[in-house]
Amino acid sequence: MTIDSLAIAAYLVAALLFIVSLAGLSKHETGKQGIWYGIVGMAIALVATIALALDGGSHGMTALGIVLMVVALILGATVGLWRAKVVEMTGMPELIALLHSFVGLAAVLVAWSGYLMVEAKGAAQTEVAPELLGIHHAEVLIGLFIGGVTFTGSIVAYLKLSAKIDSKPMMLPGKNALNIGALVLFVAMTVWFVIDPALWLLIAATVLALLLGWHLVASIGGGDMPVVVSMLNSYSGWAAAAAGFLLNNNLLIITGALVGSSGAYLSYIMCQAMNRSFISVIAGGFGMEQPSSSSDAEQGEHREVSAEEVADMLANASSVVITPGYGMAVAQAQYPVAEITRILRERGVNVRFGIHPVAGRLPGHMNVLLAEAKVPYDIVLEMDEINDDLSDTDVVLVIGANDTVNPAAEEDPGSPIAGMPVLRVWEAGNVIVFKRSMAVGYAGVQNPLFFRDNTSMLFGDAKERVEDILRAL
Ligand code: TAP
Repeated sequence: MTIDSLAIAAYLVAALLFIVSLAGLSKHETGKQGIWYGIVGMAIALVATIALALDGGSHGMTALGIVLMVVALILGATVGLWRAKVVEMTGMPELIALLHSFVGLAAVLVAWSGYLMVEAKGAAQTEVAPELLGIHHAEVLIGLFIGGVTFTGSIVAYLKLSAKIDSKPMMLPGKNALNIGALVLFVAMTVWFVIDPALWLLIAATVLALLLGWHLVASIGGGDMPVVVSMLNSYSGWAAAAAGFLLNNNLLIITGALVGSSGAYLSYIMCQAMNRSFISVIAGGFGMEQPSSSSDAEQGEHREVSAEEVADMLANASSVVITPGYGMAVAQAQYPVAEITRILRERGVNVRFGIHPVAGRLPGHMNVLLAEAKVPYDIVLEMDEINDDLSDTDVVLVIGANDTVNPAAEEDPGSPIAGMPVLRVWEAGNVIVFKRSMAVGYAGVQNPLFFRDNTSMLFGDAKERVEDILRAL
């Protein structure tokens, strides 16, 4: 058996492992198993690729190429392991966005090399059959375009998620016309490039894709960023698949299609959960209006409360709902929160958790933290399961959450988060909000909840305040 056919078999096994891995990742209980299938699949794929390169056949590389590949492999693996070890759960989305940008950049480079290879060697010397040259050039431009959009789009997502730039949507005049114009221009360029594959067209298409990626994501507000990250995940998959066509690599095509379609489906589910139009989000906020409400509008006075008073309230309550958010993750308050839950439940209080689908910074963020602190699964409820019970709840503890409990989403049609489903905590008897200041949440909008008559603010680091309550209890 030749190395070539062995490699094809290995790629097939790897592709199957990736499919099993995705199936495993779809459930909490089998998630870790899923990761292992993915790791083994990737190891097999890497070994097969290296074997092909060493074999010196049609995929063979020069000695310098092999040295460069090994150095890149060691460097990439070292940096990847180090980042994975040091990243905080709260920093995961920006790391994922950054990784997507690498896939996009790789697809752009593959497209460029696909073009230069044919140009330098001439079609006769490459694997591309002369009658397929037109298709090859279309592949070059399509791969380059998807990769370019993914590259700059992911960088903007990274900058927004890590608060290095403002998370508000950039609203250029005629932004929808700009996006559609860029798409039409790209299609025209592709046709032109197939007829006349000139270098200047490749450069122009690269610039167009980079600008469009930047504009698409910059036009989307912070509140919709979770959908954007999963959408970029999908784009990075299609970019990898496009690179697979150019490199004639079946595994890359299959893996790219798996990532592309699962990312697209995840984006769709998230759009439904957040009451957003899928088309509008993937088209860079197409049809979204500039929010008309200002986050600085005068809201009135807020009231403060002490940890001891909250402990009293909890001791006298018969039902308590805890709605955690990003601040609980930052403060790492899940352990004392789990302890309070245990004590109150022992005293016969009905304590439950209400989890918003986008609380925190990545899907399932809160569930993972609570599971880590050994909060029983059966008292951790989804937003839709708890919302109708909030009006019968004595005390709601809002721990480091803000946008996900903002009544403006339901009551103010001009708000940037209008229409996003929220936990209706304001319907409870008493609401205690744990945060450090009156600062706005991720979407950058003020929260009228903080100024309601039944709301009290408990300022300070969430972990310290929850520990104060624990002592007073
Ligand atoms: P946010 O709206 O971001 O609010 C978090 C609150 O926690 C802030 O108001 C902050 O106020 C407070 N906080 C931060 N550190 C704290 C600490 N150490 N102690 C106490 N409080 C602290 O969070 P949320 O309600 O969870 O909403 C999530 C938001 O993130 C949504 O807009 C969502 O769209 C977006 N987002 C979600 C995802 C996914 S997939 N879940 C991904 C990206 C973005 P202070 O600064 O005053 O303390």
